[in-house]
Amino acid sequence: MKERETFASRLGFVLISAGCAIGLGNVWRFPYIVGQYGGAAFVLIYLVFLVAMGLPIMAMEFAVGRASRKSIIVSFQELEPKGTKWHWYGWFGMAGNYLLMMFYTTIAGWLLMYFFKIAAGQFDGLDRAGVEQSFNSMVSQPGLQLLFMVVVVVLGMVICSRGLQNGVEKANKFMMLCLLCLLVVLAIRAITLPGAIKGLEFYLVPNFNNLMYDAQGNFRLGEAIYAAMGQAFFTLSLGIGAMAIFGSYIGKDRRLFGETISVGVLDTCVAFVSGLIIFPSAFAFGVNPDAGSNLIFITLPNVFNVMPGGRLWGALFFVFLFFAALSTITAVFENILACWMDKWGVSRGKAVAINLVLIFLLSLPCLLGNNLWSGVKLLGMDVMSFEDFLVSNNLLPIGSVIYLLFCCLSKKIAWGFDGFLAEADQGRGVRFPAKLRLYFTVVVPIIVLIIFIMGYIEKFA
Ligand code: PHE
Repeated sequence: MKERETFASRLGFVLISAGCAIGLGNVWRFPYIVGQYGGAAFVLIYLVFLVAMGLPIMAMEFAVGRASRKSIIVSFQELEPKGTKWHWYGWFGMAGNYLLMMFYTTIAGWLLMYFFKIAAGQFDGLDRAGVEQSFNSMVSQPGLQLLFMVVVVVLGMVICSRGLQNGVEKANKFMMLCLLCLLVVLAIRAITLPGAIKGLEFYLVPNFNNLMYDAQGNFRLGEAIYAAMGQAFFTLSLGIGAMAIFGSYIGKDRRLFGETISVGVLDTCVAFVSGLIIFPSAFAFGVNPDAGSNLIFITLPNVFNVMPGGRLWGALFFVFLFFAALSTITAVFENILACWMDKWGVSRGKAVAINLVLIFLLSLPCLLGNNLWSGVKLLGMDVMSFEDFLVSNNLLPIGSVIYLLFCCLSKKIAWGFDGFLAEADQGRGVRFPAKLRLYFTVVVPIIVLIIFIMGYIEKFA
């Protein structure tokens, strides 16, 4: 059998995992969800979820990957006791990867389109309403969006087809470093806009009323907590094996919790700085922070319009946002391809060819949901929100609990805590907080379950 590929360097591993974590979740989803749920108080709750649940679960995913040396579709099989059915979840996890890509490719396409639009000066001289109109007309036409979506899918697959070290690792290292630098420049510009201070207040000074009640005064605390949890799992890429796959490509010289902390810190920094760009800008230009999923698209062009050299900065910025999305896409594609290679033994090239077509077709409903199929409502949501809901608020939390139980229950019925700990603590670095086993095994799953049920009741009541 062919040797499994590995990363060229530790930095490569950390950056590629961070590249998978850092994506639309940070630059698109985080600001708009924070905006919808009232700002700083929501951010606090989100941070608690990140630390108290997200990081430990990420270490568990890495451990399952590293111990099994396999992708989600077969990793459970390698570690579970005979006769147990953990591996059934592999199929759901794989479906989760596809579902995520079904809307991710469209939004990544928008970012790329914005790059061209800004570079061509199409937003020059437009006021806030003009920008919004331009965005709406962009999404109401399927043709151009389709073109960009195809470019995204092809680009992602081309990178993956070049293999792990030469393709995915090299591309991601470069993209992540550029993004980090540019974010800081823009945050400085946004914070110094006239009127920015109101945005900073919204983002940084907790107001629990904003969290508990929506604009119409309806109580929605349960839903907000549900959303905070979903966002924490989403941003860390947990629950569908997207992180586990990178565990399967590393050696045993580092303890996994330390690596997890590096990834978590990078991810949180990017989300935090994105907020520092969006909220001051939104308030400065009178964009309502609860504008929803189009928030960054109707806010940012205004910022560039008033910046000296805004066309250049704006174009650069959208290119790097696009890179952030693309680094996630290549990571998730890699996971999907690895599933095909591990499960059915197909070659990388064949897996690329099949999935190129498959993911293109699967991306169509979301794309059309904004125009030709705009009448289609699933549980009251448009196609994109519905797909996002299925992944973020269902598969990711449930999958995360499955990883958690798999690692923490007794080894008679699961992988077991001893096996997990031995794997996680191999090498140098920060040890996993093993004393908290009871908390992980009992408290976390119960909390997730309660929030899950509460969120459902409020969302659909
Ligand atoms: N974390 C990614 C982002 O922030 C999204 C993601 C979720 C990727 C789950 C993989 C798995 O954009």
